[in-house]
Amino acid sequence: MSSDVAFRASKVVILDFGSQYTQVIARRVRESRVYSEILPFNFGPEQIRTTGARGIILSGGPASVFYKDAPQIDPNIFRMGIPVLGICYGIQLMAFHLGGSVEFSDRREYGAGTLSVLGESPLFEGLPSVLQVWNSHGDKITHVPPGFEAVGSTENSAYAAIQHRGKLLFGLQFHPEVAHTPLGKDILENFLYRVCGCSPDWTMGSFIEQTCQQIRDKVGDQKVVLGLSGGVDSSVAAALIHRAIGAQLTCIFVNNGLLRSRESETVQKIFRGNFRVRLKYVDASQRFLTLLQGVTDPEKKRKLIGGEFIRVFEEATKELKSEESGDSHYRFLAQGTLYPDVIESVSISGNPAALIKSHHNVGGLPETMHFELLEPLRQLFKDEVRQVGLELELPREIVFRQPFPGPGLAVRILGEVTEERLQILRQADEIVVNEMKATDWYYKVWQSFAVLLPVRSVGVMGDQRTYENSVALRIVESQDGMTADWVRLPYEILARISTRIINEVKGINRVCYDISTKPPSTIEWE
Ligand code: XMP
Repeated sequence: MSSDVAFRASKVVILDFGSQYTQVIARRVRESRVYSEILPFNFGPEQIRTTGARGIILSGGPASVFYKDAPQIDPNIFRMGIPVLGICYGIQLMAFHLGGSVEFSDRREYGAGTLSVLGESPLFEGLPSVLQVWNSHGDKITHVPPGFEAVGSTENSAYAAIQHRGKLLFGLQFHPEVAHTPLGKDILENFLYRVCGCSPDWTMGSFIEQTCQQIRDKVGDQKVVLGLSGGVDSSVAAALIHRAIGAQLTCIFVNNGLLRSRESETVQKIFRGNFRVRLKYVDASQRFLTLLQGVTDPEKKRKLIGGEFIRVFEEATKELKSEESGDSHYRFLAQGTLYPDVIESVSISGNPAALIKSHHNVGGLPETMHFELLEPLRQLFKDEVRQVGLELELPREIVFRQPFPGPGLAVRILGEVTEERLQILRQADEIVVNEMKATDWYYKVWQSFAVLLPVRSVGVMGDQRTYENSVALRIVESQDGMTADWVRLPYEILARISTRIINEVKGINRVCYDISTKPPSTIEWE
């Protein structure tokens, strides 16, 4: 499904000039229940018109309008009659192209500021006349374009907020989308509701209803196959498509032998048991374990697992096809692709969000499989996917689970992966998960798991000397997995996890806490 599906909802588009906050703007708008889409900065008026947008937001960006290859806007956008809000670099573009003066600065003004509201503006209606705001900008406006007026100033800028009411053009030099501008959400909502006339009609209930209809229209009487991993995205996609087309969907769940404790039982119980989804369970554990025998190199492990997954999945779909009778066949492959995966491919270079973790695309299926793709979550951010999951009555255990890598526990067992080492890690990991859930910390952190190290050390248990394995605990906070910090978990919880692992898991006599950040370390150890 393409991202340009026409939703019956108010829509605002955001032109992406490379700001690290572009996605934040899009999410803030959606939190205010207005549907938003991010478009490349060089989209012109015609392309924007076809989206049906009621408003345009210009993101900030790292460039100066004076740079030779700075991303430029088609100035005709300012003459479309659709309201425009320029943020940071966006306000400078507005001033630059409409006859104002912008002063070059190679030093960014960065940090908190105080905005004094000067005149009447729909942006500040209902708000105090003095506001805390967050600045992060280079160039500065020294004269507003004809017809514009200043409606807000800060310590360092007489033109921190400007407007041309008649032409519905507005500019903010600060960032209303970040948490450091506490009333920023109200400013954005004023733009959405008062200026653009949007209604708060983007709800997950309406998304489900409309998407189900679109899935039915697209699929007709054909069949859909989906690789279910048990992660949030594929699970929500499965539940949504099942709601739309019921038994025309078959999920394939591959047990690669590298799953967490009870994982395959849980997934089968939820999807086959509760949801009555047609589920093909493929136990390929022995194949994977045999393949991994003697392999210790992390990259080799990943490649072998990725390649084998594709073979197993292809075989499973062939089996499905041969089991079927009648004219309908499996024409569609469903995937839980999310909006951030889609935006990454249109962002301009220099945007940190454009960095793609290619090595993570394990389980990506080859085009030779000749399927048409069905990606019903392409428009959603992760928090929206979770809401959809809750509305579809998926259990919290699935909806709020932490990310788990495609190659599974293999990248958390340093050295050779054997059945015995998998058993040890599964037990240790289960204790970590249970203790984290018991204190609710599981839901506050990005990931919390155990890693089995290829290190044995001496210990003492009762009167016995031991010489056993060690595990490391990796518990990190992160926004998106790109950067991460280790969590300052209360000592009591760490102590409890450590004591339980050493007492209960045979083969472990030492627990360490990983206190490295990403970068330079990574979250997973391999
Ligand atoms: P790293 O280890 O690169 O991980 O800091 C960043 C995030 O990505 C997850 N991860 C994966 N996810 N397939 C996935 O679907 C993979 O192969 C994979 N490897 C790492 C990791 O758990 C963390 O959240």
